[in-house]
Amino acid sequence: MVVPATSMRSKKTKAVGIPEIDLSLDRSIVSEQIVKACEEYGFFKVINHGVSREVISRFEDEGVHFFDKPADDKQRAGPATPFGYGLKNIGLNGDKGELEYLLLHTNPFSIAERSKTISNQPQSFSCAANDYIEAARELACEILDLVAEGLWVPDKYVFSRLIRDVQSDSVLRLNHYPPVKNWDPSSKSCKDDHIGFGEHSDPQILTILRSNDVAGLEISLHDGFWVPVPPDPTQFYVIIGDALQVLTNGRFKSVRHRALANSSRNSRMSTMYFGAPSLNTTISPLPEFVSPQNPSLYKPFTWSEYKKAAYSLRLGDCRLDLFKLRIPSPTLLI
Ligand code: OGA
Ligand code: NI
Repeated sequence: MVVPATSMRSKKTKAVGIPEIDLSLDRSIVSEQIVKACEEYGFFKVINHGVSREVISRFEDEGVHFFDKPADDKQRAGPATPFGYGLKNIGLNGDKGELEYLLLHTNPFSIAERSKTISNQPQSFSCAANDYIEAARELACEILDLVAEGLWVPDKYVFSRLIRDVQSDSVLRLNHYPPVKNWDPSSKSCKDDHIGFGEHSDPQILTILRSNDVAGLEISLHDGFWVPVPPDPTQFYVIIGDALQVLTNGRFKSVRHRALANSSRNSRMSTMYFGAPSLNTTISPLPEFVSPQNPSLYKPFTWSEYKKAAYSLRLGDCRLDLFKLRIPSPTLLI
């Protein structure tokens, strides 16, 4: 289904408290809270996450350093096809955004290779990136194990195993939103006209996001409102992706989100770790979530098929609709 551009504009913004989960609390409490947040929002913030400030700031500094470079130097790390440096072109399908970015595969060999065009000190860059990736992966896996516990799935590692796989297709993305020049806050133009990264859901299993202290991220609630997410450089936000929606047979919803173009005087930089399975992993609802009363909503597909479908569409299109089963009556399934 194609979401008409106008629907993006018609949604209003409202302030809503984002669920905040303290990972240092008792496991049984945390796992319950996470499941609730995944069901209600597909999005939450984690505090006391255990990732060291040093790992965060080292990678942040590398990012700031890269985006500070003259345009010609940055182009050496591009074009992003799909990995490397990209400017304004978000997807492979002509989606435009007011941002520049670095997209990296999380495989250390790939990082080592890419670092040569990204930094004059490639070793320092790759070391900072690898440490950050490892920390983000551990955090993602811990959250996925808590999800499995909260859902009472007998195999506690059923989700985290997918992104621990050495062949995992997880990627890391650094987005840089420079301040928009000549921004006129008094102009009548709706702020939705200034989109940095258009409305979408993340196709992977789980995204671990953090940003510097400049605002911009918004999530979409089921009632059609956009909810601004306050930036918090020391904490992480978790975004439920399409693949986890399918694995839970729709019990969790991947959250639609976007980033506004940057109206502040400072640059906004965000970092996303997208936890994904290997390309040949088949994604379909786990048996625990399928019953005669709750038939499977999706046909099985491989991560590679899903990725291809996701890239062939524009931001804003609902990719999961392509894989929905249209079952006239639940009884026909058995
Ligand atoms: C993304 C994304 C939001 C941000 O890269 O998928 O949603 O804040 N980014 O940059
Ligand atoms: Ni996203």
